[in-house]
Formats: sequence, structure tokens, C-alpha cells
Amino acid sequence: MNILILGSGGREHAIAWKLKQSPKLKDLFIAPGNAGTADVGINIPIGVNDFEGIKNAVLLNKVDMVIVGPEDPLVNGIHDFFLDDSELRGIPVIGPQKAAASLEGSKEFAKEFLFRHNIPTAAYKSFTSNDLEEGYAFLETLNSPYVLKADGLAAGKGVLILKDLQEAKDELKAMLVDAKFGNASATVVIEEFLDGIELSVFVLSDGEGYKVLPTAKDYKRIGEGDTGLNTGGMGAISPVPFADKVFMDKIHRRIVKPTVEGLKKDNLPYKGFIFIGLIKVGDDPFVIEYNVRMGDPETEVVIPRIKNDLVEVFQAVANQTLNTIDLQLDERTATTVMLVSGGYPEAYEKGKEISGFEDIKDSVVFHAGTDIRDGKVVTNGGRVMAITSLGTNFQDALKVSYQTIEKIHFDKMNYRKDIGFDL
Ligand code: AMP
Ligand code: GLY
Repeated sequence: MNILILGSGGREHAIAWKLKQSPKLKDLFIAPGNAGTADVGINIPIGVNDFEGIKNAVLLNKVDMVIVGPEDPLVNGIHDFFLDDSELRGIPVIGPQKAAASLEGSKEFAKEFLFRHNIPTAAYKSFTSNDLEEGYAFLETLNSPYVLKADGLAAGKGVLILKDLQEAKDELKAMLVDAKFGNASATVVIEEFLDGIELSVFVLSDGEGYKVLPTAKDYKRIGEGDTGLNTGGMGAISPVPFADKVFMDKIHRRIVKPTVEGLKKDNLPYKGFIFIGLIKVGDDPFVIEYNVRMGDPETEVVIPRIKNDLVEVFQAVANQTLNTIDLQLDERTATTVMLVSGGYPEAYEKGKEISGFEDIKDSVVFHAGTDIRDGKVVTNGGRVMAITSLGTNFQDALKVSYQTIEKIHFDKMNYRKDIGFDL
């Protein structure tokens, strides 16, 4: 079958790399893709939110299935666009419809969903500019630190955690009244702070049945020891060593099952990945957030541990036969380390030639912000490449990733040397 993947990051390269291994795959297209996806499929220069352009490419290339990488097109309703179009209706889209994509598109919607279905999460209240004073009063009832979240999509920047009460009030006003995050902060969720260690659980749902995929932990801060600015993710490990059977049973019973059942009860069709961001407080899991897609760089450690034919798995999602699939996992640990452009996540330069990555044998190189210029692979983003390795434990796997990195070079290359430091 012919498959189109939407997106251009390490996540999409990892999915493309895995689909490419399937005997069921005929042609693979990636829109817009990167230099890595060009190696396993055909890049099409169309943006992920250009629905008409995507439609033309799907019909022209006889695409049989579309896999949506990032959240934006899902929140904008790409799945609904397909269902509403007589020529596209029969082509399955992996990724939820717009209504359920609000689990990521609106923090308030997600909190209401969590409370409606009794799924453990932090206490909260939400506010608009009309009730700024009530917002101040609510902050006064909480203890420091204060968690403020812009309701809408804010490119991963919409969450503020503040120690000082006055600063929290000032930021609340900046978000609500001065549109600090544009329309995304027209509503702000204020949450109780949860103190613990984070991990993520990934679920693949066909709307009826579901499969729990491997857990992963990512490292979001730019600096070693989890310091400095937030990034898209600097590295990841799967499985998470502290997510033992007892803890996973709790996650399954208290969070995964009620989430999938809640979607059904609320009439929210869901064919796609559910990314559940969790925090372990004491021995108990709480939901921090839902995303309606896979994580990046979590995909670069989760996908390589799935042994099944991924085309078959996605077909089962489309046909709602996921319960017939026996998910086979590689028991080894996967780690990935992200190579980033110097300066990222602030200003950085692009167009730097990348060398030494072509003949890597011990790791898998997933491209993120890369492009081909004059026949050369160059940097084209903040996060440039994810170096994934497998090992009997995360220390062994990481050692391989770091040895591989020694061979790769581009001007001002940066990466974290302490992935897994907290485990
Ligand atoms: P989110 O975009 O909701 O995932 O939030 C971004 C990050 O803020 C999370 O990965 C956590 O590190 C942190 N965070 C969010 N909500 C809370 C909370 N209620 N308590 C503690 N940390 C939080
Ligand atoms: N690595 C976090 C995310 O994909 O949202």
C-alpha cells in the first residue's frame, strides 16, 4: 500500500524508517519531510496544514493511508477534512478527529475530561480576562510554586511555573489581558503543583480497542541537570526503569482504561496515538497532559522497540481490529540523544554541513532539522538529528549513542551529555 506521513521531524523519520521495513509497503511519501525521510521515501514539499495541497498529493499518488505526525493539523481538523470529502472519505487517517484533538488543543477541555472521568490529575480552575480578580484570589489559596497554563497551543511554551505569588499574579495578567501567548492564553488554567518524576505512556487506539506501547522519559531542558530553557526534547529513554509492573498496573487501571472508555462515553472517535504525560507523586501516577500524537524524541526510542510490522498495526487501527494484534516488544532499552544547533532553543544558524553520519552501524540516525542543499546534508532547524541505540540497560545503550556522536560533526553542534542522569 501507499502511505503518506505528514511532518518533518525525527518522529516522522522514525515512523518512515519502520514502515519502510514492511513488505506491505509500496510507495512512501512524506510531506514535507527532511533529508533523512528522503532516504526512505519521497518528500513532497507541502505544509502539514495545507489540506487542499495534501488532498491533491493523496489523489495524484494514490495514497491508501495518511499518518499524521504533529498536533497542528489534527487540532485544525485534517481527519474531519478527509471524512467530509467524497474523494478522500475512504482513505484512513491515523490521528484523531478535531473534537478529540482538543485534548491537546485546549488544556481546559483536557482538565474537564480528566475530572469527568475521575482520572487522577492536579486540582485546577480556569480563568478569562473577565475574572482576573478571581484568578488572583485562587492563586492566594494555593501554595508556591504556581502553575499557569495557556489554554491553547503555544508551541510548548505556554506553561509557566513560578515561585513568587506576585510574579504569578503579574504573569496571569500578562497572559489574560496582554495576550502574552496570543489567543492561546485568552483562557488560563491555574493548577496545583505536583512534585515528582515525569514519564510518558503511549497508547494506540482504534476507537474500540487499544494497545499500550512502551513507556519513555524525555529530557526537555537545554542544560545538563535539567537546567535552562525548555526545548522540544534533548533525548529520551525507553522503557522507563522506575515504571515497574505494580506502577504500570496502576497507570493502566486508573488512567489508560478510563481515558479510552471516557473517549467512547463522550462520543469522541479516536483512531491514533494518545500520549499521556504523567508525574509519579509518591507511588501514584497523575496526568499532567494529553497529547494527541507521538512525542518527539520519544518516538525515536519507542518505535525501534516495536517488533511488529507497523503497516499491519496501522491497518488494524483503520479497521478497528487492533485487539487481534499481538504486540511484540524488544526487551532491550533504547536511548536517543538529540544533536542540536548551537544557540537553540534561542537564535541559531542554519545551513551547516553535517558530516560523519552516513556510515554509522551501531546506532540509528534519525534526522530532524536537516535538508539537502547542493547535494549535501545541512542543518535546517534547532533539533538536527537523534542518535538512537539499543542496549541491555540504558547505560549501555547511551554509551553507544555517545560513541556514535563522536563521529558526527557540524559547526556549533551541541547535545546533552547527561541523558538519564536522574534515573
Ligand atoms: P505541559 O505542557 O502541560 O506538559 O507542561 C509542561 C511541563 O510543566 C510538564 O512537562 C511539567 O514538567 C510541568 N508541569 C505541568 N503541570 C504541572 C503540575 N501541575 N505540577 C508540576 N509540574 C507541572
Ligand atoms: N517531547 C515532548 C513532546 O513531543 O511533546
